[in-house]
Amino acid sequence: MVNFDAIKGFVFDLDGVVTDTSRYHAKAWGQLADKLGVNYPNLGDAVKGISRMDALEMILKKGGLENNYSAAEKEKLATEKNDNYVQLIQHMTPNDILPGMAAFLKELQANDYGIALASASKNAPTILDKIGLKDVFTKIVDPATLSHGKPDPEIFVKGAQLLDLKPEQCIGLEDAAAGITAINAANEVSVGIGSKDLLHEADINFADTEDVTLANIKAAMQ
Ligand code: G6P
Ligand code: MG
Repeated sequence: MVNFDAIKGFVFDLDGVVTDTSRYHAKAWGQLADKLGVNYPNLGDAVKGISRMDALEMILKKGGLENNYSAAEKEKLATEKNDNYVQLIQHMTPNDILPGMAAFLKELQANDYGIALASASKNAPTILDKIGLKDVFTKIVDPATLSHGKPDPEIFVKGAQLLDLKPEQCIGLEDAAAGITAINAANEVSVGIGSKDLLHEADINFADTEDVTLANIKAAMQ
């Protein structure tokens, strides 16, 4: 692993790292899977980090339904899921920032680290606005510009570029296995937050967002 002193920037996933929206994604996809008659164990974990259309394809495939819908019908299903999801995030406030994350972001700002967002979600700007972090995340990779979603490294490479840094100067933070794979392939230091079983590929693991501090990251890199 690179030396902690080489690190100049942090590239964040949003859902499940900064705020607990992954449970809303899980709920909205679960509603759609039920409607389609698809039984998908651990659906919530499977869709973490996966773009909207890729997640829909995964669900259809699980049910053997991948050839049953036209492109237009798939768009409609994805829109239906998103409409339900948007309802669920309507009432989010700064209280929905995950424990320790507001303090960690302040710590990064106080120490002049670069901060960028690498979320696959097209709803990310809305969520940042609702939780009061719009001014902290001024550098956001637009998922609409990506050729490939996570686990491809593209989104994390672009995050480093937004910070004018090399990937080796960045730490990426993720709660999704696909996201950790993406960070590693981008050649950034990967921090996995959540189940170590799920995120065993990460360079550094933390069980909870509360554990994510500069001191703990520095200690883990020594
Ligand atoms: C994040 C979430 C995924 C979600 C994706 C797209 O990566 O972890 O579960 O499918 O964003 O979100 P969107 O809001 O654009 O549908
Ligand atoms: Mg996530």
